[in-house]
Amino acid sequence: MEPLLRVDDIQTYLGESHILQGVSLEAQAGEVVALLGRNGAGKTTTLRSIMRITPPRGGKVMFDGQDLAGLKTHAVARAGIAFVQEQRAIFPSLTVEENLIIAQRGEGWTMERVFDEFPRVAARRRNGGAQLSGGEQQMLAIARALVANPRLILLDEPSEGLAPIIVEQILELLLKLKATGLTMVLVEQSFALAMALADRAVVLGKGRVRWSGAAQELRAADDIRHAWLGV
Ligand SMILES: Nc1ncnc2c1ncn2[C@@H]1O[C@H](COP(=O)(O)OP(=O)(O)O)[C@@H](O)[C@H]1O
Ligand SMILES: [Mg+2]
Repeated sequence: MEPLLRVDDIQTYLGESHILQGVSLEAQAGEVVALLGRNGAGKTTTLRSIMRITPPRGGKVMFDGQDLAGLKTHAVARAGIAFVQEQRAIFPSLTVEENLIIAQRGEGWTMERVFDEFPRVAARRRNGGAQLSGGEQQMLAIARALVANPRLILLDEPSEGLAPIIVEQILELLLKLKATGLTMVLVEQSFALAMALADRAVVLGKGRVRWSGAAQELRAADDIRHAWLGV
């Protein structure tokens, strides 16, 4: 079956630096794919390349049979890919509700459904984005991606900088989303979180794919984990 997302041999430069030197990965509809690797491996650049924030200079990204070449980032989003960035990028001067209303698009996830599923976000609905804790901001960032009703969500280190109890809540939330059949590409530093969610894993090192396979096989692949993940 043709995957929902197919990244084929992309080459991405930042300035003069050749950062991604032939990265390929696939996500079937309904699958969670973990994108792993040490700091600086090229994980964020891969997500930014898919979104065409840093458009690849070579290779191809296909989404739902459509070549994304030539699209602007907003058009990639409209095609059905949501990006939860590392910096969360919620609007600090808008309320939680306003942050969601401006992102709302399509059918399925509405603001009220999000509030039902994310009680911590609901409790803050009239608060400004800047008043939220780090964990609440992360949940809002995920909620905001959802109300755009994407077919694919790219998540960049959703657990970063959060206390273990909050990370646990984020994991529960992502497991719920996975159960709805949502396709995800998850960049994570937490090996445990990635393993709890992912069906498949792709390990990046120095801008290249070093390993890919079933997530459960990565647990046993000690040499790969030691060499490229340090776990
Ligand atoms: N603006 C830039 N110009 C040149 N190199 C950069 C720039 N930003 C990041 N890099 C380099 O690109 C590589 C990949 O970065 P990144 O995709 O952010 O890695 P990861 O998300 O896996 O930690 C790193 O080696 C980093 O130093
Ligand atoms: Mg990164």
